[in-house]
Amino acid sequence: MNFEVIGTGHYAPENVVTNDDLAKFLDTSDEWISTRVGVKERRICTTETTADLAYQAAMNAITMADISPQELDLILCATISADDVSPSLACTLQKRIGADCPAMDINAACSGFIYMLETAAGFFERGTVKKALVIGAERMSRLLNWNDRSTCVIFGDGAGAMVLSTGNSYLSSKVFAKGNTDVIRIPQMHGMSPFYKNEAEEPYLLMNGQETFKFAVNAMTKDVQEVVEKAGLQEEDIAFVVPHQANLRIIDSAKRKLSIAPERFCSNIERYGNTSAASIPILVDELNRDGKLKDKDKVVLCSFGGGLSSAACVLEWKVR
Ligand code: UT7
Repeated sequence: MNFEVIGTGHYAPENVVTNDDLAKFLDTSDEWISTRVGVKERRICTTETTADLAYQAAMNAITMADISPQELDLILCATISADDVSPSLACTLQKRIGADCPAMDINAACSGFIYMLETAAGFFERGTVKKALVIGAERMSRLLNWNDRSTCVIFGDGAGAMVLSTGNSYLSSKVFAKGNTDVIRIPQMHGMSPFYKNEAEEPYLLMNGQETFKFAVNAMTKDVQEVVEKAGLQEEDIAFVVPHQANLRIIDSAKRKLSIAPERFCSNIERYGNTSAASIPILVDELNRDGKLKDKDKVVLCSFGGGLSSAACVLEWKVR
């Protein structure tokens, strides 16, 4: 016994930043960003905190699930951009929604949401949890060097959430990490200890784009094949693939290597950019609210990113 999804929700800040807006202060263009990444616009916080984004997404999912926050037994947040080091985003959110249950964050970068589903599955298996809220929420805009055109044009802010209840929808999964500090790194704040001798680094995202790209295509292809096989399915049984939204060209490369029909790969990167741990639950919520997910559909979620990490799973969708 693991879980089924009984509610989804997402939220993104109102401020829309187009590629042309970026070209006003960066040496870039709509043409470069659209063709190399696939992003046309992204949402960027002006006054919203990460907790604000998480709160709205969570309430949208809770409303759809038709439960009260007091019914939750667990809150899990996947994030690398929580407002505070402590309390965790999950604890901040627990207070705000008025829940009374354990709450914690996990940092597995862009793979965080699937890592959290895997964590939730363990709680359900043990029978200690009957309802759980899982959220991916990111204010990536605060982790970016806005003078670095090779990274800041890619990312965006947002949050996505799922309410889970006891069920059998989580058919198979894989979580993977290959520790590496050269390809993607976001240094922490240096601190002000008068005793610490190492040189300060700016706490902004550093990324070797091409190395990340290669890792992403390989991980996504292998992980999808593995979870489909583990679930006892064939690639043609898959109704939708919901990949992490990092670069449309990564998704296109994986499409060519897998034998799942190309039209089954979903994307909304054009409107949000890469929202890290939030990208998969945002896209699942859009598909769900558009009525695209049918009962018993086999849906593959797959992700990759900082760590380096990757993760994938197969969900059997339940329409309530
Ligand atoms: O979720 C975390 C995981 N992250 C990812 O999955 C990111 C994976 N990597 C990528 O998406 C791509 O590697 C990038 C989008 C980051 C870069 O695309 P690329 O095709 O690998 O470009 P590149 O780094 O090879 O750069 C090509 C050229 C360079 O100019 P020269 O040296 O050829 O003259 C860059 O300076 O494009 C230039 N460039 C830009 N030009 C206009 C880099 N960024 C920009 C920009 N606008 N924003």
